[in-house]
Amino acid sequence: MNSHMILFKKSTDINAWLLQCKKAGKTIGFIPTMGALHPGHISLLQSALKADVVSVCSIFVNPAQFNDARDFKNYPATIEKDIDALEKAGCDVLFLPSVSEMYPDGLLHAKNYELGYLETVLEGKFRPGHFQGVCLVVHRLLNIIPADDLYLGQKDYQQCMVIKKLVELEQINIRMHICPTLRETTGLAMSSRNMRLTEDGRKHALKIFETLTYVKNNIKPGDLRALKQAATDQLTHAGFKVDYVEIADAGNLEIRNNWNGQGKLVVVVAAFLEEVRLIDNLLIHTDA
Ligand code: PAJ
Repeated sequence: MNSHMILFKKSTDINAWLLQCKKAGKTIGFIPTMGALHPGHISLLQSALKADVVSVCSIFVNPAQFNDARDFKNYPATIEKDIDALEKAGCDVLFLPSVSEMYPDGLLHAKNYELGYLETVLEGKFRPGHFQGVCLVVHRLLNIIPADDLYLGQKDYQQCMVIKKLVELEQINIRMHICPTLRETTGLAMSSRNMRLTEDGRKHALKIFETLTYVKNNIKPGDLRALKQAATDQLTHAGFKVDYVEIADAGNLEIRNNWNGQGKLVVVVAAFLEEVRLIDNLLIHTDA
């Protein structure tokens, strides 16, 4: 671990530096982010550090993955604080590229990834183009950063599945590590977008975790639709604008209206509070 973090802005520079590390027999652990860092992001870095790798974080607010221009414009930026937090946590390398560095040819002729079903449901359905943008940036980042290990958060469950698919499609040789969701003491999943909530909103937002927990505690074999409706109603009555509350197969995200009591499920939520879009999920282990 370096006592000082090295900051790179140019892809050729960081690439050359990391290839030297690899030559020296080191393993590269990579944590991509969009900044506005919180302890959830730092927990990914800590997982990497435990594995004794050269830890590389990137901060890049990727315009290609924002389907909503206002969300992009309002995305929080706290770069000085981020650099401080990464350095304190022991990050070795920070990659901080500009838009033109990442997309020298612009976005007009961007590649299309064959994501299939994954892109048609849940986040894919409600945020058209979003996962294409995620794939574009992650693919480009992985071309620049010769990573052996990739650290992602379960908070973005579907994103993890999309990136797994990308890694398969592009035959990228990398190990994926899905890290648990860090939550506030109230249960609210930590998120950069929480910064855009008022203090009241942040208190209120714990209702999402309560709803997920309600589903987890009340699920029974049989028809699931009444439970999903009850959960949606809870959030709507609490003042959320709900995009979806769904129960899906944890392995392939197939939406479930029925359940035979076996197999692993995931309950997923996306809802707006104070015009801020929040997502969260909970795995339902059903082997008991
Ligand atoms: P961002 O939202 O900044 O998240 C970066 C990583 O941190 C993701 O893997 C995300 O799942 C993880 N993360 C977010 N909140 C978390 C929490 N509460 N606990 C644990 N991990 C958490 O996700 C993105 O950026 C972008 O889509 C990106 C992959 C960087 C591509 O642009």
